[in-house]
Amino acid sequence: MKAAAVSDYRELARRRLPHFLFEYIDGGSYAEATLRRNVADLEAITLRQRVLKDVSSIDLSTQLFGQSLAMPVALGPIGLAGLYGRRGEVQAARAAQAAGAPFTLSTMAVCAIDEVAAAGVGPFWFQLYMIRDRGFMRDLLAKAKAAGCSALVFTVDLPVPGARYRDVRSGLAGAPGLAGGLRRFGQTLARPGWAWDVGLNGRPHSLGNVAPVLAGQTGLEDFFAWIRDNFDAATTWRDLAFLRGAWDGPIIIKGVLDVEDAREAARSGADGLVVSNHGGRQLDGALSSAAALPAIAQAVGDQITVLADGGVRSGLDVVRMLALGSKGVLLGRAWAYALAGGGGAGVAHVLQLIEAEIQVAMALTGVARVGDIGPDILAG
Ligand code: FNR
Repeated sequence: MKAAAVSDYRELARRRLPHFLFEYIDGGSYAEATLRRNVADLEAITLRQRVLKDVSSIDLSTQLFGQSLAMPVALGPIGLAGLYGRRGEVQAARAAQAAGAPFTLSTMAVCAIDEVAAAGVGPFWFQLYMIRDRGFMRDLLAKAKAAGCSALVFTVDLPVPGARYRDVRSGLAGAPGLAGGLRRFGQTLARPGWAWDVGLNGRPHSLGNVAPVLAGQTGLEDFFAWIRDNFDAATTWRDLAFLRGAWDGPIIIKGVLDVEDAREAARSGADGLVVSNHGGRQLDGALSSAAALPAIAQAVGDQITVLADGGVRSGLDVVRMLALGSKGVLLGRAWAYALAGGGGAGVAHVLQLIEAEIQVAMALTGVARVGDIGPDILAG
């Protein structure tokens, strides 16, 4: 199949990945209501078609946190990407760099900060989870600084992990020991292309950034147990002072869905926030990002840079998020599917598709500059 859209990469990913990995990317928590709402609410935002506006020259460039971007899009943090493509984080970071979009490296990445930096990609963003061992966190932040990371994305919507039924059903979670391992192995044998390219030649598969504290544990089962044991559920807004002390660059708080929390984020001195429900992977039943965004942008958009993610599957969706009040948009599954379905070239292609789709959407809504996209391009 020749991919023409993000949805095609989802299908390619489904065909290429072992079942448990595809389900891990594709799924959400509990009944997946919020996951579905993220996509459906965004799709339901109607655009206002305008004509005869001289849209012969469309400018997608924008500035975020003092950085010039080719378009108002960044690759958001996705854990375990090195299992979707061979050294997946490095491949995705290269594709993002070529497209002029920031790449965000997850704390839970396969490739460590040093490996991505050594691959010669330009400044990337680093995503952080608050881990109980603050000494370890200080070291991690120092590594990110030394690697030239240009922003810190601090994810706050995972103090405890939400249950994802699909992971249990696929054998990724809750299947310890030999039985679980054999089940996943069986699913891997059914995907020989992946087994050779990523399974064998993409090793090591350990979590590079947290390897020092994983104490030799490497299995996927250990990974989930480690999250439960080590993510700091006692974290509050006061802990931002710790981050400020350890990080002097821009701080972006990811996972805000409520106006009161957005006001706290603005008061906390953070530089940005991401309106996000973790792609419908945490609190099922929460608002979609598209539904939460307008009130947050209205309340704090003049004090703090508001970004958004969740359900973005096209350049049209990017334009919708901007019209709802965000200044930039993070891609999640869109790039994970592309990496799994087409490697680094797939990620590059998805970024080209998104860019072209933004351009057309801007032309047909009659705006020539990103800064001119606002609620007035929405119909009804
Ligand atoms: C994520 N997300 C995520 N967020 C984060 O801050 N750190 C992480 O390590 C991960 N890992 C991760 C893995 C996978 C497979 C998915 C699908 C998501 C959440 C991610 O950054 C983003 O918020 C959502 O993916 C956005 O929703 P869409 O675009 O995927 O619908």
